[in-house]
Amino acid sequence: MGVLEVVGVASILPFMQLMAEPDAIEKSRWLNAIYEFFHFENPRQMLIYSGIGIIALIGVTNLFTIFTTWLRYKFSWEIAHQLSVRLLRTYIHKPYNFYLDNNSSQVNTYIISEVGNLTGGVIIPIIEIFSRLFMSIVILSMLVFVDPKVAMIMFGGLGGAYLIIYLSQKNYLKRIGVLRIKTNLLRYQSLQELLQGIKTIMVYNKREFFYNRYSQASWEFSNIQPKYNLLLSIPRSVLEFLAFGSILGVTIYLYITAGNIQSAIPRLSLYAVAGYRLLPAMQKIFTALAKLRHNYPVVDKLHNDLRKSHGDYKMTETIKALPFKDRILLNKINFKYETATRPVIKDLTIELKKGETIAFIGSTGSGKTTLVDLIVGLLNPGKGQIIIDDTPLNASNVKEWQEDISYVPQEVFLFDDTVASNITLGIKAEEVNRKQLERATQLADIHTFISEQLPDGFATEIGENGVRLSGGQRQRLGLARALYKAPSVLILDEATSALDSITEKSIIESLQKLPQDLTTIIIAHRLSTVKHANCIYILDEGKVIAKGTYDSLIDSNKSFQTMVNLS
Ligand SMILES: Nc1ncnc2c1ncn2[C@@H]1O[C@H](COP(=O)(O)OP(=O)(O)OP(=O)(O)O)[C@@H](O)[C@H]1O
Ligand SMILES: [Mg+2]
Repeated sequence: MGVLEVVGVASILPFMQLMAEPDAIEKSRWLNAIYEFFHFENPRQMLIYSGIGIIALIGVTNLFTIFTTWLRYKFSWEIAHQLSVRLLRTYIHKPYNFYLDNNSSQVNTYIISEVGNLTGGVIIPIIEIFSRLFMSIVILSMLVFVDPKVAMIMFGGLGGAYLIIYLSQKNYLKRIGVLRIKTNLLRYQSLQELLQGIKTIMVYNKREFFYNRYSQASWEFSNIQPKYNLLLSIPRSVLEFLAFGSILGVTIYLYITAGNIQSAIPRLSLYAVAGYRLLPAMQKIFTALAKLRHNYPVVDKLHNDLRKSHGDYKMTETIKALPFKDRILLNKINFKYETATRPVIKDLTIELKKGETIAFIGSTGSGKTTLVDLIVGLLNPGKGQIIIDDTPLNASNVKEWQEDISYVPQEVFLFDDTVASNITLGIKAEEVNRKQLERATQLADIHTFISEQLPDGFATEIGENGVRLSGGQRQRLGLARALYKAPSVLILDEATSALDSITEKSIIESLQKLPQDLTTIIIAHRLSTVKHANCIYILDEGKVIAKGTYDSLIDSNKSFQTMVNLS
């Protein structure tokens, strides 16, 4: 594009020479050569043909500009896509505690909004700088060739002015760049929270508070944009003034030195056309530099996140399950959340035989959920080990261990898709094992509801996070999902707490009928849920304070007796 533009600009000089001085063909070796080459009959004919030729060239140049613009954006957005998915791949492989320590809107904002900013504010400007810089240099060299003095003045004037403006804005641009990322994140975060809590917000009539939270963030964000846009546009006004001034100045200079303006017209036209191309090119370079400066903090942030990722993660979801034959041993494990001051799990040792059902009970906050998060490998114990048969659990085998496990957390996660897809977690419709699906939903006591009450049965869409389902229905979907996987370890964290006692009892009874070697870990507040367990552990502040079967605990443990009596 640069080459074409330069040829277009350069062709003005001989054309104007031809026009202004008919005897130019004899004077100029170049014009003479062209005249001979095309076998023109007279200068007039040459003038007309070269005029048409220049028009055609400008047309082609502009067509080509459209094409290169398309190419440039295509390239940039391809990078944006790559970056966005690479970031997601990095975040998706972060350890679970990353999500405990960071607001999830951060991931959201970076992957979508900031990658967009990176494209528009960094990648496109870099390409812009290269292409415009090349063009400016070629045009300038041509000017130097024609008249070094004028070229130097033109370049010194324009370049110097841009440089001064850029240097004076540089730090401020970066500062508001950092602020922009922060306020953009706040915007996303406050909006996401508002939408998630809409039910509570409505009932408590707190629309104003949450509205203001967003409004504040949006205001701060919007405050930065005009400052940034102003900074980008200032040089344009200054430089248009400078450019027009210099064209007039050069005219006067040439008028004085050349004596008559007639012979100066070709050159003046060249300067005018060169300026016409050079000015926007330099303007674009400046804007691109300013954008780079402003958006540099984004590069810093995303680069940091990408760099901290280790290698290229495999996304394959077919992982071989870790062999589990005999026992799970929690050997003196300790755990403390990074942000907490006190440990949640203290020197805890538990052995669990394959095929057994054990239960954790204890007051709220005693560490039950944390303990199962450790067992499934979402969290890593600070001290101590989790040993499966004889294999200690570590970063390299945790995925294989998770293949053995179905975990129904306290909050069941549902997504806006069909019932079947929510149970099978994204297995393609044609690959779903229908029999297993039926069986899992029957065991979870949700089959009748799905097939008789939902309008499209298993193909019914359940809405965002399952809003169209009741709390108990959501829990039973969570259970059906766990059973569909046919795990060797089933972990239920308050997974039946939203069910009525009768439904819960029937589900627990059907779970007992599952294959003998299913190992089950149940957390429950309702004691009837854990009555049948082989061993019940009572947790208190991260320690086991008593253990035994339901009956033996009733006989031996005072606080257990109180719990039973209360329930
Ligand atoms: N991400 C976290 N950062 C810091 N502390 C945490 C975090 N998650 C939980 N805690 C703390 O760890 C302790 C144990 O929490 P945990 O969720 O394991 O309790 P629980 O026994 O499952 O309680 P509940 O019966 O209410 O579900 C609590 O005191 C809680 O405040
Ligand atoms: Mg819990």
